[in-house]
Amino acid sequence: MNHQMILSRAGGVLLLVLLALPGLAVAAAGQDTLAQTPPMGWNSWNHFGDHVTAADVRRAADALVASGMAAAGYRYVIIDDGWQGKRDANGVLHPNASFHDMRGLIAYVHSKGLKFGIYSSPGKTTCAGHTGSAGHEAEDAREFANWGVDYLKYDLCSFTQRLAGHSLSEQVALMKAAYEQMHRALVATGRPIVFSLCEYGWGKVWEWGAGVGGNLWRTTDDIRPDYESMWFNADSEQGLARWAGPGHWNDPDMLEIGNRGMDAPDMERSEMSLWALLAAPLIAGNDLAKMDAITRDVLTNREVIAVDQDPLGTQGHRVAQQGPLQLWMKPLADGTVAVGLFNTLGRPLDATLDFEALGLHGTVAGRDLWRRQDIGPVTSKRVFEVPATGVVLLELGTSKHR
Ligand code: GLA
Repeated sequence: MNHQMILSRAGGVLLLVLLALPGLAVAAAGQDTLAQTPPMGWNSWNHFGDHVTAADVRRAADALVASGMAAAGYRYVIIDDGWQGKRDANGVLHPNASFHDMRGLIAYVHSKGLKFGIYSSPGKTTCAGHTGSAGHEAEDAREFANWGVDYLKYDLCSFTQRLAGHSLSEQVALMKAAYEQMHRALVATGRPIVFSLCEYGWGKVWEWGAGVGGNLWRTTDDIRPDYESMWFNADSEQGLARWAGPGHWNDPDMLEIGNRGMDAPDMERSEMSLWALLAAPLIAGNDLAKMDAITRDVLTNREVIAVDQDPLGTQGHRVAQQGPLQLWMKPLADGTVAVGLFNTLGRPLDATLDFEALGLHGTVAGRDLWRRQDIGPVTSKRVFEVPATGVVLLELGTSKHR
């Protein structure tokens, strides 16, 4: 028997299995269609922290629509830690007083055409000390599904105590089992629920996150609203591109755009550009009801969002660095490339972009996505002024691609 025959026979067997189990194939396909592009939305934590109220979440949903963010693709309204009350004698977890009408709140969010996300932990307690899902995974998953939850962020928190004294490989096995358990519980509800893994990048989660049902997984510890933290989280994604793609994404954490410390327009544009180049989830973390026009403009720039949401789903990376200048690239589905020129210095710098070195031969044309201006056609080189702690974000193609 030659190899070709072995292959075609194997193919025949696979086809038969799929035909024989159509229900299974459909269920698997249903799960697979979640998060085909990086999830977009808003999460309460970065601005409201543990003191979030149901009224804050309603206002965020209102603002998501009123600001144009919903129309630009932000769909998930996610309450992070701080919604939980106590678990009763029957094991049912109740929301705290502010979130007493969780069904009503979720129905309200849904009525605006948005999706709803919630937060829990495989530990007994969450990071802010509230009740976690340990020992109650199936009940909690069912309750979330009954409420109408569409997205779960599952945060390791006190589960770390269970890891103490174990070898690294045992720790990874324990974390995998915990995430897999909740994933199975979510699938069993029959409701499509995006599964967001939050365990700070431990044990190289990118290597096993998709295997335990994760649609996205944090790659670092928590982001802070400052420029250095933004760079630390973006840098931590170098070398991880092969683990990202439709349905499963590396997550450098929620955006700090518009929060005090990350509210300078050029820093805001830098974070939005980096996250777009990284094909990162775009989960805003600011007070949407109070953001200024520039922050709104940064968060809703459709051409930048299109880079993030590109159907190819390839995570970009840094291709060159010269002192404070960094060059990042991301290939796009239509054959063009997104190019980010970043300047980490506190004053503007001129940067010469050598198109040939980027692999763009011949006549190059494109667009400056923040200035919203067409570029070119040009050949070989062009100088760009890059703002202080800012970015020039381009989409470029040769004549063949435009
Ligand atoms: C951890 C997570 C944060 C946030 C808090 C809530 O620190 O990494 O994103 O969810 O817990 O307590």
